[in-house]
Amino acid sequence: MKAQFITLDGIDGAGKSTNLAVMRQWFETRGLPVLFTREPGGTAVGEALRELLLNPATQVSLRTETLMMFAARQQHLEDVILPALAAGTNVVSDRFTDATFAYQGGGRGVPLADIEILENWVQQGVQPDLTLLLDVPLAVSMARIAGAREKDRFEQEQADFFTRVRDVYLQRAAAAPQRYAVIDSNRSLDEVKSSIEQVLSRHFGC
Ligand code: TMP
Repeated sequence: MKAQFITLDGIDGAGKSTNLAVMRQWFETRGLPVLFTREPGGTAVGEALRELLLNPATQVSLRTETLMMFAARQQHLEDVILPALAAGTNVVSDRFTDATFAYQGGGRGVPLADIEILENWVQQGVQPDLTLLLDVPLAVSMARIAGAREKDRFEQEQADFFTRVRDVYLQRAAAAPQRYAVIDSNRSLDEVKSSIEQVLSRHFGC
């Protein structure tokens, strides 16, 4: 099996951090080569863009914000993701283009067709082999964010923003069920962990 490109996504407060650790352990246990990375980020310029994008003081237009996400992604693909896959290393990215459709498209209202144009230009057909979408009801997400440290520029958005973000994630997953595994993250840590392990085991056949 060729090296797999796997992404983990979902609204803020869906429990990505905890479940990234579950994924890391799953790969380690099986001795499979894997690189964990994140978006926006993953390269020096990507991390610099991330700082700007998450800083509540940053003022940017919707198009600029969208282009910054794709600028980070372009460098990430060229410098990190594609070389790792070519070398036979599986890649797990904490967020990818689904987040742009959900946040800039659903949340902010950038036309999805415009995002598709950038997706095609930047990715040249590269798509994740598998996307794990962590899903929680809005109230759970909002409660988790409320308990967090200082809120970043996205976490400061209101419930209706996250409702639109979640809707786009779920619509995308429903439209391409062969790529997405939607994981109900509003359960005990053990239940979510075992769902994630099952999805990975089914995908890799081990
Ligand atoms: P996180 O890594 O802690 O989830 O923070 C990243 C934030 O950036 C999160 O609120 C989602 C947002 N984001 C977008 O709005 N568009 C994107 O394309 C990506 C990758 C992230």
